[in-house]
Amino acid sequence: MARPRIIKIFDTTLRDGEQTPGVALTPNDKLQIARQLDRLNVDIIEAGFPSVSAGEKEAVRLIARDKLNAEVCALARTRREDLDAALDCDVDSIHTFIATSDIHIKHKLRLTREEVLKRAVEAVEYVKEHGLTVEFSAEDATRTDLDFLRQVYCAVVEAGADRINIPDTVGIMTPKRMGWLVGEIAKVVKVPISVHCHNDLGMATANSLAGVEAGASQVHVTVNGLGERAGNAPLEEVVVALHSLYKEFKTRVNLKLIYETSRLVSQLTGVQVQPNKAIVGENAFVHESGVHAHGVIRMPLTYEPISPELVGRKTVIVAGKHAGIHGIKEKILELGFNPTDEQMKEILRQVKEFGDHGKQVTTTDLISIASIVCGQVPSEEKTVELKELAVVTGSNVIPTASVKLTIDGKDYVSSETGVGPVDAAIKAIRKLTDNLVNVRLKEYRLEALTGGSDAMAEVVVKVEDPEGRIVSARAANSDIVRASVEAMINGINRLLFVKKREKQANRG
Ligand code: KIV
Ligand code: ZN
Repeated sequence: MARPRIIKIFDTTLRDGEQTPGVALTPNDKLQIARQLDRLNVDIIEAGFPSVSAGEKEAVRLIARDKLNAEVCALARTRREDLDAALDCDVDSIHTFIATSDIHIKHKLRLTREEVLKRAVEAVEYVKEHGLTVEFSAEDATRTDLDFLRQVYCAVVEAGADRINIPDTVGIMTPKRMGWLVGEIAKVVKVPISVHCHNDLGMATANSLAGVEAGASQVHVTVNGLGERAGNAPLEEVVVALHSLYKEFKTRVNLKLIYETSRLVSQLTGVQVQPNKAIVGENAFVHESGVHAHGVIRMPLTYEPISPELVGRKTVIVAGKHAGIHGIKEKILELGFNPTDEQMKEILRQVKEFGDHGKQVTTTDLISIASIVCGQVPSEEKTVELKELAVVTGSNVIPTASVKLTIDGKDYVSSETGVGPVDAAIKAIRKLTDNLVNVRLKEYRLEALTGGSDAMAEVVVKVEDPEGRIVSARAANSDIVRASVEAMINGINRLLFVKKREKQANRG
């Protein structure tokens, strides 16, 4: 069998990806992402569009001078000032574009086809005169008259273009049509062909793959599918599909770094990845239903198309109302418990009851259930205890709280101010417990259990540690501040308990 063809990955996270509404990266953020893309081993990094701002130009220059292995590319319209701005950045290549569809030519550019053709050719010649690699895009190619599109691509190749790119700018192609178009262009153009598919109708990955099947040797992608409107073809989907669904294609991407790259991009852009997103979504390798969990435990590929380790992830089995005894038992054993069959049935019953009330059963909940059923009550594990609490509040004073805590048998005191007495008390607790576990209060809910001014207040908190463990805890007291403080301390104790359990499970 012939050796697999290497498909080049042109990553445009830092250019088209940054055009995601609401995203603006600083030059240092962009440099950090570029370095990660380089570790990921993409072939080309489109670092930005230098003519848009001074900061953008600085970022592209910073990346171009960072001695990365990848080719660093800058985007430019066919205008001289754009091309000069890109040339100024010391990049390896310039990606220049002009729209070729009649709708763009008439309404946006207000030019004639002849003028568009002339500008495209002149831009390519200009970049070649400066000795750089040039990639040419006919913007809105997929809505362009085919004869004109052929004419434009042939003319730019004649002028020296090293690669041509076919953008499906508004994401209107189907795989069949994309394959056909790439085939038509490949008949007349003898330089490498690239595809750039937008995801407006959710077809970007399928259309990109169809382009490759028809002869394209390069694909434009973005991490997490970021990009204008519904985004671009996601790097993780295109790359993993090329590796796992085809024998005849490969990329140079280091698949193991895909998840870590996705997390970094999400963190720096502030764009959360949807939980059910392919490959990188939180649920992509999570199994809840009993049938699935059972299958995955016996043979992971029963319900996983690829091994999660391939992309730097792990299989996760969660507890919920669809859970079965095998999945829950696996988790319970992992957490260091050793229940009898009877205890296991009771744990499963309680998990399903939780689920029937619409609740997601977290690892912490599972630890709580298992601890009680197996006779190891986590509430006995109190590393932190409240000894004293005093608050000062009123209309003309800054709310202040003082707390005395016993931590591992030793007393500690702290005072803090806040926007209110609860805020002040929670800050004082955090000050004392930060060394132990640095918690963030993720959610705070106050519920009155009974009516009247002496109502019992029930406070429910969700706290999170820096590794992302989340636990819920509650406390009830007729004093709201006291209830809040106790709930917070319960949350801290639970987190410490969960961490300890996890450590034991890892050791065992
Ligand atoms: O979608 C598009 O047409 C583009 C071009 C600049 C290639 O991003
Ligand atoms: Zn685009």
